[in-house]
Amino acid sequence: MSSASTLPFASRVAIVTGAGSGIGRATAIALAESGARVLGVGRRKEALEETARAHSDIAVLPLDICAEGAAHVAVDTAVAMWGRLDLLVNNAGATALMPLAETDRGVVTTLFELNVTAPSLLAAAALPHLRASSGSIVNVSSTYGHRPLAGGAHYAATKSAVEQLTRSWALELAPEGVRVNAIAPGPTETEVLASAGLSPGDVAAVRSQERERIPTGRLGRPGDVADWILRIADPRSAHITGQVLTTDGGLELA
Ligand SMILES: NC(=O)c1ccc[n+]([C@@H]2O[C@H](COP(=O)([O-])OP(=O)(O)OC[C@H]3O[C@@H](n4cnc5c(N)ncnc54)[C@H](OP(=O)(O)O)[C@@H]3O)[C@@H](O)[C@H]2O)c1
Repeated sequence: MSSASTLPFASRVAIVTGAGSGIGRATAIALAESGARVLGVGRRKEALEETARAHSDIAVLPLDICAEGAAHVAVDTAVAMWGRLDLLVNNAGATALMPLAETDRGVVTTLFELNVTAPSLLAAAALPHLRASSGSIVNVSSTYGHRPLAGGAHYAATKSAVEQLTRSWALELAPEGVRVNAIAPGPTETEVLASAGLSPGDVAAVRSQERERIPTGRLGRPGDVADWILRIADPRSAHITGQVLTTDGGLELA
């Protein structure tokens, strides 16, 4: 077993959005187990506190990241607690099933606010601290950030935007020593479909259809994605930037 000082994220500080469930919870716990001090952000205090019970180096900040000023609140809280910031994991996000004929302005706006605007403002607020620490940003995209999704075009479009932000910021910030990468999960067993308003029966039907199309024959698990968020954020991955790594059991090939 590694001693605390030899852990890859020892003495590093991370913000993980959406840390109260799914991929964000798994990432916050894995980072803390790898030596980081982690600020978990999300709207539901109780869900965040459940995550924090898994490790004493996880602190929580109940916050709607779409609220005015939220990005600075999150970054300032982490820096006030620990004096630095090394990693921003832009994980919080949502999906929506919305065929073109049912396009709703509110759904489009909300998806872009949460999946694109909020992570952009968080990245901007984090930037001075990431410059100081030669830190990095990991954005969470989706396999549908680079392949089409019939009936979910606007979700796919937000994730496509996340991938272009990733590449453009990586190029912009490389001379300053800040790396920017993305992990693009395929269908992963989390609350994401229930949060999008699907009934338990519809969630089961969608997941079953997805499972049949995934070459490895199973859905992803939050830990599958968290592992790669940590690997790409690891300071030892110092020469990797601007990459989008898909963790989807080969779905994008099928
Ligand atoms: N699961 C999949 O199949 C899949 C596939 C590809 C990509 N992804 C992406 O993976 C990321 C994580 O999703 P997940 O699958 O782990 O689903 P999840 O369990 O629903 O997690 C989403 C998280 O985002 C948080 N969140 C939502 N709106 C927020 C807001 N306004 N302010 C702060 N936090 C907010 C939620 O917490 P609160 O509700 O407490 O705020 C929740 O913890 C998302 O970006 C998603 O698009 C998921």
